[in-house]
Amino acid sequence: QPRVFSGVQPTGNLHLGNYLGAVSRWVPLQDQMPTIFCVVDSHAITAGFPDPVELSEATREVTAAYMAAGIDPTKSIIFNQSQVREHAELAWIFNCVARMGWLSRMTQFKEKAGKNKENASVGLFAYPNLMAADILAYRATHVPVGDDQKQHLELTRDIAAKFNNDFGERIKELGIGVPNPTPSPELPEQLYFPLTEPMIAGPATRIMSLRDGTKKMSKSDPSDLSRINLTDDSDTIAKKIRKAKTDPDALPSAVEGLADRPEADNLVGIYAALGGLSKEDVLKDFGGQQFSAFKPALSELAVAKLSPMTDEMRRLMDDKVQIDSVLKDGAEKASAIAEPVLKDVRRIIGFLDVR
Ligand code: TYM
Repeated sequence: QPRVFSGVQPTGNLHLGNYLGAVSRWVPLQDQMPTIFCVVDSHAITAGFPDPVELSEATREVTAAYMAAGIDPTKSIIFNQSQVREHAELAWIFNCVARMGWLSRMTQFKEKAGKNKENASVGLFAYPNLMAADILAYRATHVPVGDDQKQHLELTRDIAAKFNNDFGERIKELGIGVPNPTPSPELPEQLYFPLTEPMIAGPATRIMSLRDGTKKMSKSDPSDLSRINLTDDSDTIAKKIRKAKTDPDALPSAVEGLADRPEADNLVGIYAALGGLSKEDVLKDFGGQQFSAFKPALSELAVAKLSPMTDEMRRLMDDKVQIDSVLKDGAEKASAIAEPVLKDVRRIIGFLDVR
């Protein structure tokens, strides 16, 4: 049975990369299959505990951003991760499924831990296991994310495959698996966990910094000019686009001409994603034009798309009781799905259930 799961960390402002690479792409999925969107606060403490008041506030802000972007709490489950205990419980079990070697290869850990790995938290190292637990506690089949999460989703599949294999006989005996949709010699006929499909597509899977087309747009970049935040007002958006780094040439008339022009490629990709177009479409309209003509058009489109959302976010943030009640309702619905999954997992493993 198909099901979507995805999430964003409540660490600071959401930016255009989070919106175009992830949240905006979740909206149409709500009408296609069951969808669960999580504010992953347990992940937000892996790189150091944020200020407690700011963490709670950021959790509400991300919730408001989801709703302002069009995630509808009557269609989707929206909740914060720490409220559903099953995530932590399944993550522990996955700590014992995943191998040190698998996690040691995670590029995001290497980037985030920096030079001093000895000083990184154990939580930062085990981060991908918690992410696998988020997804598999709901036996979710589809995960829409940006390109930077690809390796974590491969690990999620590896964890699911190892669990299915290690407990293959037991799962069959208990009769609680689902038939393997793509039979192969490496996997048993009955799977308990699905092999999740990453959904990474479109012109905005990797939005780059506005100051450096070779670096990802990120919350942690010290320069605020490098990103467009969903809380930026129209003047700030226009200023950041005006100051965005570019090369001196005109825009090419075909996508091949964007190769080796990372800044141009990025701005064209942003225009395409905001306008619901392909890069080809954008170059049909703007090919041959200078950035002095393209940038104002991009600003206008960005402001037209983002400012109603920013206004709606502000409006939602005025009623915190309402946001908290959406999260409470979501947590109850999420628990109702995850609890029986963990009950199964405990049985599969052989944890004695005496209650
Ligand atoms: P996070 O909070 O870093 O980012 C949230 C989402 O935004 C995408 N993203 C981008 N997309 C395009 N261009 C960019 N520059 C850019 N920057 C970020 C990310 O790919 C992501 O989809 N580990 C995850 C959160 C998570 C999760 C999960 C996601 C925890 N559990 C389970 C899916 C399923 C993260 O840190 O995302």
